[in-house]
Amino acid sequence: MAQALRVEDLCKTYIVNKRQNNVLKNISFTIEEGEMVAVMGPSGSGKSTLLYSVSGMDRPTAGKVYIKDTELTGLSEKDMANMRLARMGFIFQQMHMLKNLNIMDNIVLPAYQLHKGKTEREKIDSYGAKLMRKLSITDIAKNDITEVSGGQLQRACICRSIINNPDILFADEPTGALNRSSSEDVMKEMVRINEEGTTIMLVTHDMKVAAKCTRILYILDGKIEGELTLPSMKESSNVRDRENQLNHWLIDMGW
Ligand SMILES: Nc1ncnc2c1ncn2[C@@H]1O[C@H](COP(=O)(O)OP(=O)(O)O)[C@@H](O)[C@H]1O
Ligand SMILES: [Mg+2]
Repeated sequence: MAQALRVEDLCKTYIVNKRQNNVLKNISFTIEEGEMVAVMGPSGSGKSTLLYSVSGMDRPTAGKVYIKDTELTGLSEKDMANMRLARMGFIFQQMHMLKNLNIMDNIVLPAYQLHKGKTEREKIDSYGAKLMRKLSITDIAKNDITEVSGGQLQRACICRSIINNPDILFADEPTGALNRSSSEDVMKEMVRINEEGTTIMLVTHDMKVAAKCTRILYILDGKIEGELTLPSMKESSNVRDRENQLNHWLIDMGW
């Protein structure tokens, strides 16, 4: 298996009021193609900072990040923007949908941006419609983003994040604002997207979400303190077993 993401000695330091806050401390890890990795850890431990630093949302203070063979840290702003558009998907809370576009137009926008000037709109629209069908949100295609439920909006965000067939999908608390049943629906889709070949790295504090992943990294005070490997959902779909195993491990980690 090839590497989807490689991180070497990643450091991130924030300076606030002249005080240095070393949030990420020499983090190194690799994610193989096809993995679905959850990052867990206490609030403030650096999970979001890690996700932003490895996905090009933010520049690390030191260290290297590779998406496949491309070193992110060496890219110009323009190349980084292209890379993010063409090869990476994002489900981040602060990446809001645009208010002046309906749900469908929001979903296809990244594809229009990627294929600028080319006459591929019909193809893009039909792919967007297909994704909406898969995630059962066809009936809200023409709705404003204020006219849908939280679960529907999150499924629309998933459609948008995969419209350009990314190699790797990054998600920060993708179910954080959802009730249990919407959360289950969203995770079902995330697992399916992963089974169809997209590598996923997500941050969550929800054990039920992490238990669906193939590996869990535990981060504490800016360092990776441990990792747990689980079989894929295809290999072992007994959710209770998975949650038990994860629960024991998290207790060991001091969760
Ligand atoms: N933009 C920022 N500027 C300054 N400090 C930040 C910034 N973002 C995060 N931090 C600090 O980094 C630490 C880790 O934050 P974060 O990565 O959001 O934690 P988590 O996602 O694990 O809850 C916290 O101490 C937070 O205050
Ligand atoms: Mg966070």
